[in-house]
Amino acid sequence: MRRPLVAGNWKMHGTTASVSELIKGLRLLALPGGVDVAVMPPCLYISQAIAGLAGKNVAVGAQDCAVEPMQGALTGEIAASQLADAGCRYVLVGHSERRLLLGEGDGVISRKFAAAQSCGLIPVLCVGETREQYEAGETVAVVMRQIGAVIEALGVGAFAKAVIAYEPVWAIGTGLTATPKQAQQVHGAIRAQLAAENAVVAEGVRILYGGSVKAASAAELFGMPDIDGGLIGGASLNADEFGAICRAAGS
Ligand code: PGA
Repeated sequence: MRRPLVAGNWKMHGTTASVSELIKGLRLLALPGGVDVAVMPPCLYISQAIAGLAGKNVAVGAQDCAVEPMQGALTGEIAASQLADAGCRYVLVGHSERRLLLGEGDGVISRKFAAAQSCGLIPVLCVGETREQYEAGETVAVVMRQIGAVIEALGVGAFAKAVIAYEPVWAIGTGLTATPKQAQQVHGAIRAQLAAENAVVAEGVRILYGGSVKAASAAELFGMPDIDGGLIGGASLNADEFGAICRAAGS
């Protein structure tokens, strides 16, 4: 049985004051047992979140890491070893906003994935198709290519200690969500792709869905057999909404 994970990706949102408010709200939440919960603040606020959430069952992660695992001369970047030192447990790699707006390719993403793991962090590999690719019927091919690149670089065994997040780009921040059936189809294809290489790894890996998930849509999505939780953007900035989504993963 896979333990669900609900992770809040705060993206480039927050101020010292608003993060403090959000943490206060998160501390008050009644969170379900049997569900892993995490938040991913902008790097500036990671230490604030870790201190503020001490004793609460909410892990903290980062939204990205450098290709080089260890500290060094790489202006503006943050090493996975530094994230681990700060107390992070997870790190997103390959979020579509970085793939599309910053031109991150599969090679760079595989290096970040490896850097994260080498420092004991759990990479959350984000994959997903654009609207054009969706309309052209290329969804599964695109997602398999994105995952295949990491398998090729690091081997399927790398997914024994990683999480995958399927996020259709057309559903991110748009209010559009893949139907549970559509999402399940892609999640099933991802698991089958991994199973073709290693059945045990495929069975164990958590595959999250992301893209405009709200409390109202969460339970039905999380009820699908291959959807093991969610990566939540906008709705994770509201503690009560985020809490409701976490509880949906526990039901
Ligand atoms: P959204 O973002 O929930 O605001 O659509 C999800 C994500 O990009 O991780």
